[in-house]
Amino acid sequence: MEIKKICVLGAGLMGNGIAQVCAQAGYQVALRDIEQRFIDGGMNTIKKNLGRDVEKGRKTQEEMDSILGRLKPTLDIKEAAGDADVVVEVVVEVLDIKKKVYTELEEIVPDHCLFFTNTSGLSITEMASVTRRPERFIGTHFFNPVPVMKLVEITKGYETSDETLEIAKEWGRSIGKEVIVVNEAPAFAVNRVLVPMINEAFFALGEGVASAEDIDKGMVLGCNHPIGPLALADLVGIETLLHVMEDMERELGDKYRPAPLMKKLVRAGRYGRKTGKGVYDYTK
Ligand code: 3HC
Repeated sequence: MEIKKICVLGAGLMGNGIAQVCAQAGYQVALRDIEQRFIDGGMNTIKKNLGRDVEKGRKTQEEMDSILGRLKPTLDIKEAAGDADVVVEVVVEVLDIKKKVYTELEEIVPDHCLFFTNTSGLSITEMASVTRRPERFIGTHFFNPVPVMKLVEITKGYETSDETLEIAKEWGRSIGKEVIVVNEAPAFAVNRVLVPMINEAFFALGEGVASAEDIDKGMVLGCNHPIGPLALADLVGIETLLHVMEDMERELGDKYRPAPLMKKLVRAGRYGRKTGKGVYDYTK
C-alpha cells in the first residue's frame, strides 16, 4: 500500500511535530484540531522550527516553503480524514475520548485507511476494538520534541495484522526515525522505565530530599541525562505524565502510585512549559 495523504488529528505538542516530520518526508498532511487557536499554535511551532533550520543552513527557504505547502491546517474532520491513507491520532490521553474519536472517524475515512494512535501507553487493543478495522490499527509512539528525537515505538494490538506492522515500520523509517517494536503492555517499554523515574523525582522533591534544581543537576551530571527529570516533566507536560502513572497504577498496581506533588501541580494548572509554569516558572 502506498501512503500519500496523512491526517494528523491534534495540533498540540506531539501532533504538530508529527505533522512536520511527515510533511518534511514528502507526504501530504492535513493537520486537524477542534479549535482555531490550537491549529494556529501548532502551525506557528512548525514555522518556528523550520525557520530555525533555514537560519542554521539545514534547509533552504524553498524547502521550507514546499514543506509548508504540503501541510493543510483545518478544523473540518471530513476534509482532513475523508481521503486519508493514514490517520495519526494524537488527541488527549484519555481512553474514552480516543474511543469516541475512532467511532466518529470510522464513518469518515476510506476503507483502506490505517489508524495509527500516538499514545503514551494506553491499550491499542481496546481502542482498536471500537473500530471496524482492528487489523489496520497500530500504536506509533513518538517522543518530544518530535523533530529532534529519533525514536518511534511501535505496538501491535491483539488483532493488528503483520502487514499493518510492516507498513508502520516502513513509514517510521521514511520519516527519518528509528523503530522499535514492543509488545502491548501498560506504558510500553520506554515510558515503563522513564515515567516511574520522573515520578520518583516528584516524590523526592515533595519529601524535601533536595531542591528541584539539585535533583535535575544530579541526574544531568551524575547520570549524563541530557536534561533533568523535573525539567523533562515540564517539557513533556505533567498532566500527560500523570495520565501515564494513573494508567500504570490501574493496570500494574500500587508500585506505580503517582506522586502527590505531581497531582497537586496538575490541579494547580501547572502543566509545564505549555502553561508557562510547572516545576519551574517559564513566564519570567
Ligand atoms: N522542537 C524542535 N526542535 C527543538 C526543540 C523543540 N521543542 N527543542 C530543541 N530543539 C532542537 C534545536 O533545533 C536545537 O538544535 P539547534 O540549536 O542546532 O537549532 C537542538 O534541539 C538542541 O536544543 P537546545 O540547544 O535548545 O537545548 P538542548 O541541547 O538542551 O536540547 C533537547 C534540547 C533536545 C530537548 C534535550 O534537552 C533532550 O534531549 N532532552 C530529553 C528529551 C527526552 O527525553 N524526550 C523524551 C520525553 S518522553 C516522551 O516524549 C514520551 C511521552 O509519551 C511521555
